[in-house]
Amino acid sequence: MKSVKIGDIKIKNPICLSPMAGFSSLPFRIICNEMGAGYSPTELVSARSIRYNGIDKSLRYMRISPSEEGITAIQLFGSEAEDFQAAIRTIMATPVLQEVKIIDINMGCPVPKVVKTGSGSALMEDAARASAIVKACKTTLAELCLNVPVTVKTRIGYNAEDKGKPDFAKALADAGCDMICVHGRTRPQMYHGDSSNEAIALMREAVRGYDIPFFANGDITDVSSAKKIIEETGCDGIMIGRAARGNPWIFEQVAAGLAGKEMPAFPDIAERKNMLIRELEGRLKYLPEDVAVREFRSVMPFYIKGIPGSAQLKVKLCGATGAEEVKEILGID
Ligand SMILES: Cc1cc2nc3c(=O)[nH]c(=O)nc-3n(C[C@H](O)[C@H](O)[C@H](O)COP(=O)(O)O)c2cc1C
Repeated sequence: MKSVKIGDIKIKNPICLSPMAGFSSLPFRIICNEMGAGYSPTELVSARSIRYNGIDKSLRYMRISPSEEGITAIQLFGSEAEDFQAAIRTIMATPVLQEVKIIDINMGCPVPKVVKTGSGSALMEDAARASAIVKACKTTLAELCLNVPVTVKTRIGYNAEDKGKPDFAKALADAGCDMICVHGRTRPQMYHGDSSNEAIALMREAVRGYDIPFFANGDITDVSSAKKIIEETGCDGIMIGRAARGNPWIFEQVAAGLAGKEMPAFPDIAERKNMLIRELEGRLKYLPEDVAVREFRSVMPFYIKGIPGSAQLKVKLCGATGAEEVKEILGID
């Protein structure tokens, strides 16, 4: 794949981590960067909460480390342009966040508690509002004299019968959006059923005349599914979500495969366990141990998937309350 620029930001590799609440932790994003991912946005953070509660409550979800993770991107969700503007001003006034390179807007989240506020995928039903949000973010960043691109991650439709929303993609591009990423499922599909490359391609075609990169997302699990989505959608870049959980090696595998190079060997059990510990230790740097271990319970099974005795290991890991206990269960000193 050709190299890609989002605004003036050069992405080292257009194979990126798709944002995932509960999984896109800072240590995991650092690991993905080392494995070759182009960039890895944070999980979604409420613009309204930042506006009204300040940054402290949200900081742990949007912690960035430019020196370790390369290009940094914070994903915001909301339904009011003013909330985004206030959130961006707060982010840019916060020393540990102000170096962020990309602001991403979530227009795809299907979770009812998000959708009922008019946020996430609900914005697909209101292109005027979605455009106003993009424009407001761009204006605020320009007022702050910051050359920070604004991107949108969305889906192929709000309703089950939707088969792509080309007009919506066009509206975003007209509003000045610097990159669009489309997940090939509708809102009611959540994460089930097939992701439609055909519907993504319709949206891709709608914005081909604009000078902005288009990313495709959905069901990329290996080199062949990556090749397929690229060929069938004509996208400039891809985002990989679930298949990267506990498997950051997927970025070097897919990059090598797409470049026609020999793929690195899949890591052995010891390497996978060590990576699990590395991510956990990264989380311990900014979370109390009990919270870090509790939240990591949903992540750990992905690192040990398929290894002999993984079912019993999973049960033990899910009962662990401390980092030393996790190491003991895994047989690591
Ligand atoms: C547990 C989980 C959390 C997610 N959280 C977010 C999120 O915070 N922001 C977002 O834009 N998408 C989120 N997604 C959607 C993914 O980024 C991605 O679009 C979707 O999983 C399809 O890609 P995949 O087939 O590669 O997983 C989430 C998905 C999962 C499974």
